[in-house]
Amino acid sequence: MASKNKNDEYSIKQDYEFFSHGLEGVAAFETSISYIDGKDGILIYRGIPIEELAEKSTYEETAYFLIYANLPTQAELKKFSNDLEAHISLNTEDIKWLKDFPVAAHPMDVLNTCVSLMSLPEGGDYEVGWKRESDLKAGIQIMGKMPSYIAAFDRIKKGKQPIPPDNKLSYAANFLWMLNGEKPKEKEARILDLCLILHAEHGVCASTFGTLVTSSTLADVYSSIVAGIGTLKGYLHGGANEQVIRMLESIGGPENVEKYINAMKKKDRIMGFGHRVYKTLDPRARILKKYARDLTSKRDEILFKTALKFEDVMEKKFGPKGIYPNVDFYSGFVYKALGIPTDMFTSIFAMARAAGWIAHILEYRESNRLFRPRGIYNGPVNAKYTPIEER
Ligand code: ACO
Repeated sequence: MASKNKNDEYSIKQDYEFFSHGLEGVAAFETSISYIDGKDGILIYRGIPIEELAEKSTYEETAYFLIYANLPTQAELKKFSNDLEAHISLNTEDIKWLKDFPVAAHPMDVLNTCVSLMSLPEGGDYEVGWKRESDLKAGIQIMGKMPSYIAAFDRIKKGKQPIPPDNKLSYAANFLWMLNGEKPKEKEARILDLCLILHAEHGVCASTFGTLVTSSTLADVYSSIVAGIGTLKGYLHGGANEQVIRMLESIGGPENVEKYINAMKKKDRIMGFGHRVYKTLDPRARILKKYARDLTSKRDEILFKTALKFEDVMEKKFGPKGIYPNVDFYSGFVYKALGIPTDMFTSIFAMARAAGWIAHILEYRESNRLFRPRGIYNGPVNAKYTPIEER
């Protein structure tokens, strides 16, 4: 609110109902997609604990469950898998784009650009209003193509030919096949599948919120997912998984951990630790740690021991503040064991999270309202405009 006094000067009064830096503790909408209990370290997707889905489900089934809100019948799951497969192949135009990208480009930037390119020439629906069917179609197209783009770009930048998908394989197995050009062992495909399940959804995390802010303007699904990928990229969010491995490699061994942590300045952030909601161990980190331990090869044994020591020292120092490993601390070990290059870690996260983003877009659009918070203005009032020649 602003009012003028007799000298024609404004005074402003800001009487917002609520202020929360970084929107901590604010609920902005209702959702039935997932729930996090940050005190006890519990995560459920539509009522089912993540541990149970990780053990019994597949990524395709979990994605269907998130998007359609029911566990699929065999026929529904088959149709959904076929729908994804219908989009997985890259065409010559896609390959041409990928070959034109600079080889030094980060896979997250490539993914972002590819999803944006997918909206051309007519992917964005510019009609006013929205249609669930066309949003769903775009979402499935994006999910189908994401793994192909990521895998093909990695091959192209290494001077290799992209590998066409094998539609007999699962979503996870097909990704490993297109990346490595070798049929993955059943165990390897299952472990990636499990990682995708664990990363498929996580409430109103920053990237889901970013996706929904864009989608709430009734922008198309492609633009909304591009916003999600861009938001996920940051180191305070999904980008942390890549940084964790780089940090641990830079430490050089468990014997240097204590010194490294003690040398941290107050404002430094340890990647893979801490969470806005969890004040205890992230349940996904607990599962990933077990697989990281089982899978880590002799070659990475020192790195894994460095991580264990790191967790130990951090727990003593930061545990009382509620800072524990999050999903990004151990996931990189699992990806590394599957032969996935470090710079691709966050794009795999994005590929998995697409299911959650799409589920949220569809859900929120049922009762859409534009996101439009306020900022508390702390700038000058009644400042004078000085002509440029007098400055
Ligand atoms: N390392 C060091 N200190 C930390 C960390 C950390 N990783 N996380 C939180 N803190 C400290 C802060 O310094 C701050 O201390 P202070 O109160 O003495 O000033 C306090 O904990 C609270 O920090 P906030 O930034 O307010 O907490 P917030 O809830 O915003 O942080 C975040 C969440 C951004 C994830 C943070 O824990 C962090 O930066 N972690 C490292 C990056 C990371 O791993 N991100 C991935 C998160 S999981 C995901 O997005 C997939």
